[in-house]
Amino acid sequence: TGIYQGNFNHKNKTYYVKLKVIDKIPPTIDNVKDIEIYKEEKIDFYKDITIKDNSKDELKKEIEGDYNTGKVGTYNLKYVITDKSGNKTEKEFKLNIKEKPVVKSNNENNVKPYTINGIIIANKSYALPSSYNPGGLTSEFMNNFNNMSNAAKNDGINLRIISGFRSYQTQVTLYNRYVNRDGKAAADRYSARPGHSEHQTGLAADINSLEQSFENTNEGKWLNNNCYKYGFIIRYPKGKENITGYMFEPWHIRYVGVDLATNLYNNGNWLTLEEYFKIDSKY
Ligand code: DAL
Ligand code: ZN
Repeated sequence: TGIYQGNFNHKNKTYYVKLKVIDKIPPTIDNVKDIEIYKEEKIDFYKDITIKDNSKDELKKEIEGDYNTGKVGTYNLKYVITDKSGNKTEKEFKLNIKEKPVVKSNNENNVKPYTINGIIIANKSYALPSSYNPGGLTSEFMNNFNNMSNAAKNDGINLRIISGFRSYQTQVTLYNRYVNRDGKAAADRYSARPGHSEHQTGLAADINSLEQSFENTNEGKWLNNNCYKYGFIIRYPKGKENITGYMFEPWHIRYVGVDLATNLYNNGNWLTLEEYFKIDSKY
């Protein structure tokens, strides 16, 4: 865009020409999605959207509408993107501000696990009391597992629990064995220290195989694609070691209930409890 001028000859005559190039093409805004944050959290409005324009000039980017990050609610907002020539594009979206999840700490006697929104948390940052012992896989786990394995059977898939509940003491033995074999740093990538294992909650189990290649078997694929329907999650998904603290475990499922499991399944792109609740998993 701009104004261009000069002389130009045509049939022995000279013409003075002034040319004004104007831009009438507005910017485009794509991948607009509703945004969900917790109260007080910082918002990056432009993280996921794609803005394009035919000109290289800087665009004016505005968010239209009122919102208050200190107040739970759903706010109707609008992206308003304007180019230098005044061409404007608008896209509406919703900002959903949720209550911050509450991490309940162990009580004084140290007999209760940490929970967030009622979900028991056991990871590298949140330890279970050594005395915590539900006595086996919980009935919730077993009922839902039985429903799942019956459905799997109908699809010709055999699901077996190869390690279910493990007490604090069992994890002591197991972890020490791994440290002696592979060293502490290596063991910490695949085995929980005592008190930090989900197996102690009675809500987690290892299914069929402890090989990462389980991922590519019919059983592994079925489990990955269907477990959420029965309230289970793949707890340590691929590529999330720096978030969960553990290598990919396609066999380790954790019961969290259908609603949360469906959210975490995320259309096949597993989210972790750490990402969802914005918590750490670090010693
Ligand atoms: N393999 C998982 C991390 C555990 O030991 O609980
Ligand atoms: Zn496991």
